[in-house]
Amino acid sequence: MLKEVKMSKVIAFVSIKGGVGKTTLAVETAHALANEFNKRVLLVDANFSAPNIGLYLDLTNDVTLHEALDGTFLHNAIYEAHGIDVVPAKLYPEKEVDIFRLKKIISKFKPRYDFIILDSSPNYEELKPVIAAADKIFLVTSPDHVTLVTSLKAADIAKKQKTPVEGVIVNRIRSPRHEYNLNEIEKISSTPVVAKIPDNKSLARSLYEKKPLGAIDPSNKVSKEIKKFASAICGLPEKQGGIFSKLLPFKNLLGKEVVNRELLRQKFYESVL
Ligand SMILES: Nc1ncnc2c1ncn2[C@@H]1O[C@H](COP(=O)(O)OP(=O)(O)O)[C@@H](O)[C@H]1O
Ligand SMILES: [Mg+2]
Repeated sequence: MLKEVKMSKVIAFVSIKGGVGKTTLAVETAHALANEFNKRVLLVDANFSAPNIGLYLDLTNDVTLHEALDGTFLHNAIYEAHGIDVVPAKLYPEKEVDIFRLKKIISKFKPRYDFIILDSSPNYEELKPVIAAADKIFLVTSPDHVTLVTSLKAADIAKKQKTPVEGVIVNRIRSPRHEYNLNEIEKISSTPVVAKIPDNKSLARSLYEKKPLGAIDPSNKVSKEIKKFASAICGLPEKQGGIFSKLLPFKNLLGKEVVNRELLRQKFYESVL
């Protein structure tokens, strides 16, 4: 019997905290999906009051998400960058727009894309329309208690809106001896950790060059972990890297924490009749 594959398309990276890496993850994941896995990706800057994606990708266009929310056809606010279709937002909007129109305006574009990635604001009120528009969300945090506890507040909105929280992405790992480990984060958040990303100074180069890190340094540790995360949401097996990967089952014994993305990989492709 033929089975249709149903995929979650609209994904948001959220946290009630600035500087944790939401925009970085949205940009890098979009880049990996488009360039490593040949997916059609729409990246939308839904940080309405302090948008960053235009600055990250060197897009300085006049017609943006704000105009689309004000009635302009969204198609006119889409610009190509590094294989990604991008909808930037206005840094200095001239008038107020109804941010709750987000879900409606992007839903028309669902058939054209494999994934629609939403970047978001740390502001509680601005997060609501993003979570309402998303099929699934990923919480972004760094592994310290201040950031984790604050980031988890976003999960409250998701719970109220019944949007599934698919996983936690632990970003900017600096000093594992003084930070929460993955088990602790999973316990505190009651959510699986789906990626762990080190603090890496190459991200400064990415900002400086106004290009995704995946485009300028694909073999960087951050780029590699993003690729693994992207492969999971594509439902593809993780590429194993040579002889050391054979030692994977023993990595835990050696004290090296391994991210288990199997559940995520399976859940993103739900088979329906
Ligand atoms: N893993 C990382 N290592 C080093 N710097 C990072 C990392 N992730 C993000 N950054 C940097 O941290 C700053 C904030 O990141 P950003 O993605 O804009 O956060 P948010 O969108 O959550 O406010 C940026 O300068 C970015 O380059
Ligand atoms: Mg941001």
